[in-house]
Amino acid sequence: MDDFRREGLIITLDGPAGSGKSSTAKAVAKRLAFRHLDSGALYRALTLGLLRSGVVESDWEALSEQEFANLDIDLQATETGFQVLIGGEVVDSELRTAMVTDRVSFVSSLAACRQSILGLQRKAGKDGRLVADGRDMGTVIFPEAALKIYLIADLEERAIRRLREVGEDSPDGFRLAQQARALDTRDQSDSQRAISPLKMAEDAIELDTTRLAFEEQVQAVVDLAHRLTLF
Ligand code: DC
Repeated sequence: MDDFRREGLIITLDGPAGSGKSSTAKAVAKRLAFRHLDSGALYRALTLGLLRSGVVESDWEALSEQEFANLDIDLQATETGFQVLIGGEVVDSELRTAMVTDRVSFVSSLAACRQSILGLQRKAGKDGRLVADGRDMGTVIFPEAALKIYLIADLEERAIRRLREVGEDSPDGFRLAQQARALDTRDQSDSQRAISPLKMAEDAIELDTTRLAFEEQVQAVVDLAHRLTLF
């Protein structure tokens, strides 16, 4: 672990789907002994909560902030990050099923949905020492963050990485194109929505990870964090 103990520091990592945000953020947090917040997991939890609630999908759009709050999504701090809870019960792998992934971009475009977990995210950063990843960490949730990174990678490389995550190490051309299309559709939807769209904060640093090995991208962020302590 690196000797890096600056109190109050928040680092944000935003970027498109499959750019390696969450895995990078988690590894950076470990190196710095910070906590990791995966904000995408909160939107996934809201989506799973809706699926479990029995509210028909065509009614999701009209739900109020209070109705989203009633889904009872919460975060519980651990040594290294946060567990996500729905109604007091920890959820994890259930958040990554296709049922959730196919709907989460739509759910996260709803203003009431975003508003319902705004306070929860800010609370997670109240003591600093946080590496937060998502789409609007540097622009909306933690605009005062000391270090903002915007991760990008070529679409094909992101598709390869996503498939590798689910154990598909040698996908054929069809599978690769299918995955690339799914990522691209989600990016379009995430960046074109009216509220808190995916976009680079003006004071963010862009990091293209297409040709970086995982350890290299982690090191690049850690180096930037260390540079902050020189002032
Ligand atoms: O990072 P992820 O794939 O788990 O995110 C799931 C979805 O949640 C993604 O399609 C966009 C949305 N999201 C968001 O709108 N804002 C965030 N800060 C994080 C995720």
